[in-house]
Amino acid sequence: MKNDILETMITEEEIKEICIDLSRRITDDYKGKNPVLIGLLKGSVPFMADLSRLLDFKMTIDYLNASSYFSGTESSGVVSILSDLTNSIENRHVIIVEDIIDSGRTLKTILEYLEKKNPKSIEIATLLDKPDRRVVEIFVKYVGKIIPDKFAVGYGLDYNELYRNLPYVGVLKDKIYKI
Ligand code: IMP
Ligand code: MG
Repeated sequence: MKNDILETMITEEEIKEICIDLSRRITDDYKGKNPVLIGLLKGSVPFMADLSRLLDFKMTIDYLNASSYFSGTESSGVVSILSDLTNSIENRHVIIVEDIIDSGRTLKTILEYLEKKNPKSIEIATLLDKPDRRVVEIFVKYVGKIIPDKFAVGYGLDYNELYRNLPYVGVLKDKIYKI
């Protein structure tokens, strides 16, 4: 697997530091508010595991599996819910936990979907952000790291469902995309 990686983009050490920084900000904002963290499957799983364990206050955790239809390499924003939340979010403070935001289309659709469930508030925490590729406007309160327009894999991020188990974030060799 590691032979397919051209270069490391974010080391395991840096990921830890990013999670610590974000956890401090989120703790300041949410301590005592009993928020619900909603992880978007499957990419957010490692980030949710690390971030949530740094948050020392009462919360609940839920997951949403929403698949976004892609036309070529672009997501369409047409999202289908493969598995829904297990508990109501009505009147709850929601923090969406996401691996990466690219065009923003997927998250915008998910935001609209969750807003219909009448939460008290919704904010977004993403490990990575590629703002250069944004095509719809969304406000992202907690950004771990801004990255350039390169396709990232590892630490939950996949290419064709592979590489999610890589412990750091890397860039794939060109030849892998051509297989
Ligand atoms: P968006 O709707 O264009 O913002 O697409 C967001 C989704 O595309 C993310 O949740 C990822 O699943 C996927 N994605 C976007 N960029 C990358 C990347 O660099 N590596 C892996 N997945 C990505
Ligand atoms: Mg994703």
